Formats: sequence, C-alpha cells, structure tokens
Amino acid sequence: MKISVIGAGNVGSTVANVIAQKDFCKEVVLLDIKKGVSEGKGLDMWETSPILSYNTRITGVTNNYRATKGSDITIITSGIPRKPGMSRDDLIGINAGIVKSVTEQVIKYSPKTIIIVVANPLDVMTYCAFVSSKFKSTKVFGMAGVLDTARYRSFLAMELNVSPKDIQALLMGGHGDTMVPLPRYTTVAGIPVTELVSKKRLEEIVQRTKTGGGELVKLMGTSAWYAPGAAAAQMAEAIAKDEKRIFPVCAWLNGEYGLKNVFLGVPVILGKNGIEKIIEVDLNKREMKLLKASSDHVKAVMKVLEKMDVLDKKKSSKSKSKKKKKSTKSSAKKTVTKTAKKVTAAAVKAVKKVVKKASPKKKAAAPKKAATAKKVVVKKAAPKKAAPKKVASKKAAPKKAAPKKAAPVAKVIDKKVETLNRIKAKAKTIDFGTIGKAGRSKDDLKMIKGIGAFIEEKLNALGIKTFEQVSKFNSDIEDKVNLAIEFFPGRVKRDDWKGQAKKLKK
Ligand code: NAI
Ligand code: 2OP
Repeated sequence: MKISVIGAGNVGSTVANVIAQKDFCKEVVLLDIKKGVSEGKGLDMWETSPILSYNTRITGVTNNYRATKGSDITIITSGIPRKPGMSRDDLIGINAGIVKSVTEQVIKYSPKTIIIVVANPLDVMTYCAFVSSKFKSTKVFGMAGVLDTARYRSFLAMELNVSPKDIQALLMGGHGDTMVPLPRYTTVAGIPVTELVSKKRLEEIVQRTKTGGGELVKLMGTSAWYAPGAAAAQMAEAIAKDEKRIFPVCAWLNGEYGLKNVFLGVPVILGKNGIEKIIEVDLNKREMKLLKASSDHVKAVMKVLEKMDVLDKKKSSKSKSKKKKKSTKSSAKKTVTKTAKKVTAAAVKAVKKVVKKASPKKKAAAPKKAATAKKVVVKKAAPKKAAPKKVASKKAAPKKAAPKKAAPVAKVIDKKVETLNRIKAKAKTIDFGTIGKAGRSKDDLKMIKGIGAFIEEKLNALGIKTFEQVSKFNSDIEDKVNLAIEFFPGRVKRDDWKGQAKKLKK
C-alpha cells in the first residue's frame, strides 16, 4: 500500500504523520512545491519511527510526481488555508487552480489511485478534482464529515463528561456553516442524545459544531490541522484495510436524497474500492430542508468556480471513455459546460448567495420534535428506490430564476474574474505559501490585489459602502470586509473597523 499526500503544510504533514504512526501502509510520499520542506518534514517523521515503533517509510519530495507513481491512495491537501475574516469559499480562486493541476499530475503517475480531497472549499474542490481526473465518483471524494462529526462528538463528550468513544453521531451536508448535524441520529452508548442533553444545549452544541472551523481560525490565525489530519488518515486507513467503515464523506450525489450533480456530505461505506455504498437514512421534512439548503449553497459556489473557467473543458472532452452518456462524469462535465457558457442571472444570484451565505442559521439547530431512537431507520442503500421525490433537484435548477436588475453585477463580476484569470495566466510561479507573509512575489501581490478588487466590487454591488452599514448587515459580510481591509492596507485600517464607521472607498 502506497499513499501520497500532496501539500506538506499543516494538514498534509499531519496526515502523513498519523498514517505513518498507524503503521498500516508500506510507503508514504509527501509532496510540496516548497523546496526542501517535504524532504525535511518527511525525514523528521521517519526519525520518529524507532521511538514510536512503526515501519512506514516516509519520503518527502519537491514537486516530483514521479515519486508518487503507483499510489493506491492520494490525499490532496495543497491549497491555501483561510485566515481570520475569510470563509472557506473565499479560497476558491486560488485553490481551484492548485487542485486541478495537482490532480492532473497525480493521475498521470497513478491512474488507479483513489483521491481524497481536503483543500477548501471542500465540496467544490472535490468536484474540481473529480472533473479534472475524469475518474468514477466512487474514487474521488472529500474529507469533511469525519472532522465535523469528530468536533460534534468531542463537544458532546465535554458536555456529558463521558468518553468521546461512546458518542456516535451523524452529520451531513457541505463543509461550512450550512452543515447539518443530526441530533436525531446521535447516541451516547446507544442512548439517544436527546434524552441526555436539553434541547437548548443541544442547539448550542450544534451551532458550535457548524462554526467549529472558524472558532479555531480565530484562535490560531490559520485553520486547524490536528483533527483534519487525523480525519483524512482515518479515511485512508478504512480504504487501505478494506474496513467497510461508515463515515460521512463528501460524495457525488446522483439522485440520492433527491439531490443530483453535487458533492455533499452523506454517510457512505468506505472500503478498498473507495465509496462502496451511499447510505440513505430517513430524514424528516426539516432535516431534508436543511440538507437541500446546504446543497444549494454548494451548488452556488460550484457556479462561481464554473464562471471562473478554471476547469479546462477542452481537456475534459478528451476523456477516454466513449460511453459517457450515462456516467456521472459526463453529467459533471455537462454542468461545467452549460453554466460556463452563459452568464445567467441565476449565476449572479449564486455569487450573491455566496456573499450572503444563504443562511438557514436560526432554523438549523436541533429538531423541533425530539424523535426517539426507535424511529431511526437506516435503509440499505438502494439509490434509485430510496431517493426521495425529485422536487428538490428540480427546484435547484437555476435556469429561469432571472432577476433582471442583477445583470450589471454579472458584468462587473465577469470583468473581475477575467482580470483575475489574466493575472493568474501571466504569473509564472506563485508561491502560495508566502501569501500573508513578508517577501511576497510581485505576482502574488497582483493576485491578492485582484482578489481584493473582486471582493470590493461584490460589496459595492450589494450597495455596501460604509463599515457601519456593513456591520449591521451580517457577520458573513463582516468577514468579507475584514478581508477587504487586509487587501487594502493603505486605504483602510483594521482599527477603523473596530472604532467608528469609515468609508470603504476613498
Ligand atoms: P498550509 O498552508 O499549511 O499548507 C498548504 C501547502 O500546500 C503549503 O505547504 C503549500 O506550499 C502547498 N502547495 C501550494 N500549492 C501547491 C501545489 N501546486 N502543489 C503542491 N503543494 C502546494 O495549509 P493547511 O493548513 O495545510 O491547509 C491546506 C488546505 O486544507 C487548505 O485549503 C485548508 O483550508 C484545507 N483544510 C480543509 C479541511 C477539511 O476539513 N476539508 C480542514 C483543514 C484544512
Ligand atoms: C476546518 O474546518 C478550515 O475546513 C477547515 O477546520
């Protein structure tokens, strides 16, 4: 068993370390673009083998994909993490390019590899790897649910002062604030959690879970890595050992839960073939509504990606597979092609949605009626039969929802995206690791400036010009403004934000 981990940053090096220590595979290759970093980290880890008693051989390489040849599993962690004030979705512009190029190089040397995506925005980056690899959807999926569920379980363990080992839980949806923790499917040593924790406390824990990633970003100035690394390693272990474990995994849905053409967290069985089954559990109306809202959010970010035209459609059409009409890959490609061709008003709505983060936040807490465990029915996955009505996916089709006045915004955004793409195309090498630090390259600075302008335009399009207005809007916009402040250091200062209102422009 050979596993490659792309990106030797915080998460990547943790994944490699945990995998090595678990001692279930022969070889781990750690790859990064930063010269010497993965070699150094790999060697440092290997030097722990006599102390920790494992045999996994770890090799670090700089951008040498030949060394990853024949990997059974590849974990993609390469990409920038968020900083305070950023949402996961803000990373899309840079990370999509990285994930796409990494995937293409990975599959060149490991055409049979299973790909686990970790880079954010997770659901959309998984889609990006899926389209770029042209692999079956059972072999490309994302890690988020294992982490989010672990956070939820650890909070419950603290609340009840019990072992986290005894807490079993299910959490579905996208990796973001729209995720759907399911108290109705949460038990403590078999006891429904609703019998042990009050509804109000449960709501608070669910809310903390949803913003668990942000909580750590605020504390550390960058995103988490210990739990994310351990989570990705656990998925790799389940595959390597053919354990058939049930985990919430970011998987391509093709009718399951009434949802289509979207990567979303759902319970699956993981084994040597990757996703061996998607499990469909009964969701009540409210839970289904939350899942649908989460899916809509992911689709909105997918549209932003499509508008950015990162996915190379020409290359996609080179697909070896001739019988692609019914395959899941072809439906992914169709989605890309269709939406990339025209700037529909719905796409504008989608962009706006990302800014506003369509938030069913208040309703997203614990269910109104605490259902008993007796009502819990886990159906064996029979995708077609079990899939609920198509109403949900029909509704999600954005074709005709066209608010006319949004058109000028489309043009503005288009122009900015065009500029960004031009800058990106010009930039020969961008050391993404240096972003946010001193010693940025000229191209990095141009890129950052471009993103800043993009955000500024989005704010302007929403009619948000002053900090006062923004602070009243919602916290997500506040995040965006924080980001804008960061990108316009000469023009706006962080102190201004804390104090009185200042103009964003002028
Ligand atoms: P990091 O900045 O510590 O590491 C990223 C690494 O990727 C850097 O070493 C960088 O040099 C490398 N890299 C950049 N472009 C590359 C390329 N083209 N090829 C190879 N390597 C490249 O970031 P961290 O904290 O490790 O996070 C990585 C990603 O994982 C971020 O996008 C973050 O948001 C995401 N993440 C996702 C989680 C999830 O639950 N799915 C949890 C935690 C982080
Ligand atoms: C997390 O949830 C940022 O996605 C990353 O920690």
